[in-house]
Amino acid sequence: MASLTGKTALVTGASRGIGRAIALRLAGDGAVVAVHYGSNESAAAATVSEIEVAGGEAFPVRAQLGVDGDVDELFDGLEKGLAGRPLDILVNNAAISTSEATIEAATRDQFDREFAINVRAPFFITQRALPLIRDGGHIINISSGVTWFATPQIVYSMTKGALNVMGRALALAVGERGITVNNVSPGVTDTDMNSWLHDSEEASEGVKQIVALKRVGQAAEIADAVAFFAGNDSRWVTGQTLDVNGGLWLGRGVVQ
Ligand SMILES: NC(=O)c1ccc[n+]([C@@H]2O[C@H](COP(=O)([O-])OP(=O)(O)OC[C@H]3O[C@@H](n4cnc5c(N)ncnc54)[C@H](OP(=O)(O)O)[C@@H]3O)[C@@H](O)[C@H]2O)c1
Repeated sequence: MASLTGKTALVTGASRGIGRAIALRLAGDGAVVAVHYGSNESAAAATVSEIEVAGGEAFPVRAQLGVDGDVDELFDGLEKGLAGRPLDILVNNAAISTSEATIEAATRDQFDREFAINVRAPFFITQRALPLIRDGGHIINISSGVTWFATPQIVYSMTKGALNVMGRALALAVGERGITVNNVSPGVTDTDMNSWLHDSEEASEGVKQIVALKRVGQAAEIADAVAFFAGNDSRWVTGQTLDVNGGLWLGRGVVQ
């Protein structure tokens, strides 16, 4: 029997990239997966279809996050799909990164939108999910290495810092119910969010120089870490952030 047989999971932003890989992995481990997406219906359908072809169970849930009514729309679709079953695993993955939102150029609208999608939405999704989550369940937030190294995208980094703080406080708040809360913090991963990686040879070469394992990460490698936190092997781990990045910025190889 697969390790997550009989369990259910909601993965936000599961139509593409890391969320898609997480949905595939959790479904492969036996969970029924709610594949959330914002607008890319065909990508969400492709994720669901790939899960079903592999013998798993999934259903799509549409909700544009960061707008009024987002959480209501998401839970309407989720509860319909769950059909009375409780939730065991919540993965807060959906996020945006606005490259222009630097200290010099960020507008209030960009700031508010990025916080609404990356912080407000996971907070209120979690609040709404908690009564549905079985005791002993698991919450995993997808953070980022930019919480500990600086980039020009200061607003994005701030949103991920807020998510890390949420994870620790939440772990304490729900510990009595046996629910674990952990953050997975990817490094540079090959997804649509990082389409610049394919712009030139130099782009991916530059990444290799700062990664100990000398390559860009793949979404499935992030999903494997999420699967650890979604399963029983991590039952004694909560309130933690795990960097999953191939050894990003470990230091210079040669001291001269
Ligand atoms: N890629 C990296 O190198 C990297 C590094 C560190 C952290 N992360 C984090 O990893 C997570 C996944 O990133 P990714 O690279 O896989 O991103 P991605 O390829 O851009 O995919 C984003 C996903 O989130 C959904 N989404 C975005 N905005 C939404 C909104 N307003 N409402 C509803 N859904 C929305 C998208 O749905 P649609 O398909 O419908 O648009 C899509 O499924 C994010 O939290 C990101 O911050 C990524």
